[in-house]
Amino acid sequence: MTAHMKCFQFNKMKLLYLKIINRAFASVKTNNSSSYFVTTPIFYLNGVPHIGHLQSCLYADAFARINRLLGKEVIFSTGTDEHGLKVLQAAETNKLTPIDYCDEMSSTFEKAFKEANISYTHFIRTTNVKHKEMVQDFWCKLDKNGHISKGKYTGWYSVIEEAFVPTAQVKEVREGSQFKTVSIETGSPVERMEEENYVFCLPKFQNDLLYWLSKDVVKPLIFADDLKKWIEEGLTDLSISRPRTRCSWGVPVPNDETQVVYVWLDALVNYLTVGKNAAQSLEWPASCHVIGKDILKFHAIFWPAFLIAAGYEPPREIFCHSHWTVNYEKMSKSKGNVIDPKLLIDKYDVDGFRYFLLRASVPNSDTNYSETKIHRMLNAELCDTLGNLLSRSCAKSLNPQQIFPPFSHEAFCSLKETNIQHIIDSTSKLPETVKKHFLEGYFYKGIDSMLDCLRDTNAFVQHTKPWVLVKQQDTEAQQKLFTILHTVLEVLRICSLLLQPIIPTLTAKVLAKIGVSEMERSWQNIICFPSFHNLPNKLEGQPLNNDNIPLYERRKS
Ligand code: ME8
Ligand code: MG
Repeated sequence: MTAHMKCFQFNKMKLLYLKIINRAFASVKTNNSSSYFVTTPIFYLNGVPHIGHLQSCLYADAFARINRLLGKEVIFSTGTDEHGLKVLQAAETNKLTPIDYCDEMSSTFEKAFKEANISYTHFIRTTNVKHKEMVQDFWCKLDKNGHISKGKYTGWYSVIEEAFVPTAQVKEVREGSQFKTVSIETGSPVERMEEENYVFCLPKFQNDLLYWLSKDVVKPLIFADDLKKWIEEGLTDLSISRPRTRCSWGVPVPNDETQVVYVWLDALVNYLTVGKNAAQSLEWPASCHVIGKDILKFHAIFWPAFLIAAGYEPPREIFCHSHWTVNYEKMSKSKGNVIDPKLLIDKYDVDGFRYFLLRASVPNSDTNYSETKIHRMLNAELCDTLGNLLSRSCAKSLNPQQIFPPFSHEAFCSLKETNIQHIIDSTSKLPETVKKHFLEGYFYKGIDSMLDCLRDTNAFVQHTKPWVLVKQQDTEAQQKLFTILHTVLEVLRICSLLLQPIIPTLTAKVLAKIGVSEMERSWQNIICFPSFHNLPNKLEGQPLNNDNIPLYERRKS
């Protein structure tokens, strides 16, 4: 039996077994592969944005940009999660009406995302009328399909997480002379409650969830292991509304004035609201939800179960990242240990900031924040490696004609003793390597492979001493100089094209400097070393732009 047939039979058997998924899959339009729909979590408004929020946005932004580079049409949504007790309490503390408070805070988030050059196409607020209608419509679908019943909840509630916490998952801890009850999993304080509300029968979806997870939809894969464990430990019914008397700030439950929709159900539906508004027909499923690991359960258990129950396809992918810590504690609004992105952008420029967040963080483990690390990284990499290579190859002293010089095969042969062939070979492999790492969300690995090439190229300049060649008058020396500079500029062109998703402003500066027009910056233009391969090369002999370089100023500590 061929591998393909094996796979087909396995799937078919599973799909027969999982009728619910099958029906759900058959009833909705599936989004096409020329478009890419990526989302960030929507952010609570109980405090100002910090670098953790920007981390989610930057991962999503880099995904959006690499997909655009590859020619996809991108829908990229972000926004604010405005209902629930946490936001209501913050409004009260600030002595504002909830909506006035939300208007003000939501625009603070939007401004912060613009400052970080986040290329979102949709900014959603859960207080928008369109969204509220979508939540009510979604509720009616769950109800019509028989997945909602009325129940009584006795247990605990964490306002920080906006989550119901079963009695088995809390413990008492001592705080000074007092005792308080906290969630075992997150350590956040919980309040005792007993209330009538509506319940969603989550255990019914155990098999569907395991089937969906078996398709490697949650990345990195280590997070899927946690999920499988949680599911196999047993799922319990989930409260999906709150009495209006307990929390008035939310979307009313259809046909029941006394209840509002649980804030997490309300919030998750934002992705569908965007999908509905983004296109004439519904753009669904989402290609990728970028989230932090703290909200994995909500996105990879509750959300796909809700979707399947309502008759929608679950998301194609959940990309989960870890946290920034300060002194090895999670950076969070509730702990008050947050780093303000604006301060870092003012100090290191927007691209320095973006580069640091995508280069220093690892999706599968936490990263401890340190300003020394930012400093060292940006000086060593953006300034001494990328910047240095550009200033050398464009300096009047080494490139007196101020052109993108022609490549000569004869000179190439005379440089055989150097590592020129290695540079051409390793740089030519970059597009595929970088694409793979970037599409998997391992941005640091893609950047690392480019830095290797850039460092090798700097060493090549050191070794071939163009400053000696420039003083010699003969044609041979001239050709050799041109070929060296051509190789350097070609490495810079390729790396800059590939670095566009990470540092869009700096790469635009490099590309403009070396004469690459805006029309020639997409994936099809990344043909490596055309002159070496005897292919046409429009850049050869073109003048360099006379913009002043240094690319990135050294930061003093
Ligand atoms: O959870 N490091 O909103 P939120 C990295 N409204 N990322 C961090 C971080 C840190 N220290 N702290 C926060 C919510 N984040 C809900 C989401 S979605 C339908 C509803 C990131 O304002 C991380 O991605 O508490 C986290 O999940 C996100 O900020 C949302 O934070
Ligand atoms: Mg949070």
